[in-house]
Amino acid sequence: MARFTLPRDLYHGKGSLETLKTLKGKKAIICVGGGSMKRFGFLDRAQKYLEEAGMEVKLFEGIESDPSVETVMRGAAVMQEFGPDWIIAIGGGSPIDAAKAMWIKYEYPNCTFEDMCKVFGIPELRKKAHFVAVSSTSGTATEVTAFSIITDYQKGIKYPIADFEITPDIAIVDPELAETMPKKLVAHTGMDALTHAIEAYVSTAHCDYTDPLAIHAIEMIQKDLVGSYNGDMEKRDAMHNAQCLAGMAFSNALLGIVHSMAHKTGAIFQDYGAHIIHGAANAMYLPKVIAYNAKNAEAAERYAVIADYMHLEGSTTEEKVAALIKFCRDMNDALNIPHCIKNYGADSYPTEQGFVPEEVFLERLPEIAKNAIADACTGSNPRQPSQEEMEKLLKCCYYDTEVDF
Ligand SMILES: NC(=O)c1ccc[n+]([C@@H]2O[C@H](COP(=O)([O-])OP(=O)(O)OC[C@H]3O[C@@H](n4cnc5c(N)ncnc54)[C@H](O)[C@@H]3O)[C@@H](O)[C@H]2O)c1
Ligand SMILES: [Zn+2]
Repeated sequence: MARFTLPRDLYHGKGSLETLKTLKGKKAIICVGGGSMKRFGFLDRAQKYLEEAGMEVKLFEGIESDPSVETVMRGAAVMQEFGPDWIIAIGGGSPIDAAKAMWIKYEYPNCTFEDMCKVFGIPELRKKAHFVAVSSTSGTATEVTAFSIITDYQKGIKYPIADFEITPDIAIVDPELAETMPKKLVAHTGMDALTHAIEAYVSTAHCDYTDPLAIHAIEMIQKDLVGSYNGDMEKRDAMHNAQCLAGMAFSNALLGIVHSMAHKTGAIFQDYGAHIIHGAANAMYLPKVIAYNAKNAEAAERYAVIADYMHLEGSTTEEKVAALIKFCRDMNDALNIPHCIKNYGADSYPTEQGFVPEEVFLERLPEIAKNAIADACTGSNPRQPSQEEMEKLLKCCYYDTEVDF
């Protein structure tokens, strides 16, 4: 038996933020990030709509990118005191993910962060509050997913919290919010979405319900991402839907080791000033992982099907897999994203010598590989890497070398 879960309602299209007016309740807390939603007036509008719905509104502002365990605990304490029956999270993946984890702690004050990280082990929520997610970036699709990614900065590791309990009750996919994204954010979140769709399609947990969502997302991203990056707002709007479809697929089909590796390299080099942004990490690792997974015949066939849907060149499975890898690498070039960690430079742009020195990478490699294997996303990858293979794969991601194993 398998389960397929999505939010009860999804409102999409320009102006769908107004749906907040129709909520019924007494108290709403709005969780937001560092200021972009306020700057562009979306926070004010959301607050006004909730007040029109007759609710008392409290703001929890300043949730940082890649939110920490401490922020989650702080937000939960504020919820505990205020007692909201609606939690409204507005912004990118970071504030929405943080609010999901706060929600768990608010409903179960004795629940520790370790408890939350037990995969599919969250107790029943919605005894105190329901959850609305309004996404302002076009990538994580956390507005429809059963995941939240929280960083433990003491360990330098990102932990995925995974349970259908934290799938939001209502998702609002209003493309107006995504139109203010700077180019770099469009690039990173777009490649995150492409990775979600491709990993979901080849995941061992994929099914007839997730496949069409993943394929349609891939086709749309192929058509719209570069244009969106270059300022075409119709394509930007389309990408907001595409990333959401990818999210519907991976929330139910799960992901693979591109994400395992991105989670475990994201914060580990921050002492060298290199926070490897999630979408950029995915973009760098995806071609390597496709090559590695394609040694599994079934996965290779599925990559070839993706290539067929995309009308890429090639007549044999091998040629189609190669064409898909080339497509992903060409996307990195078009979006100004480096191909490997060694070349990951200032502001995530390609450079000759990036942030992460070779000796530091090699010293931390065994630990990173071990943590990546243990990541919750590894279980559904089509190939299960050994410690030795994972280290080799990560080296390919550092030096941009061929994967031949
Ligand atoms: N829950 C999931 O299923 C899932 C999936 C993938 C990634 N993630 C996690 O999500 C986080 C990344 O989220 P993200 O990529 O959405 O970025 P983000 O939420 O970290 O935001 C990045 C920056 O963009 C700004 N921003 C957001 N929307 C904007 C807009 N419309 N206009 C201008 N600026 C805007 C923010 O203020 C912030 O400074 C990571 O922690 C990642 O691990 C979660
Ligand atoms: Zn992702």
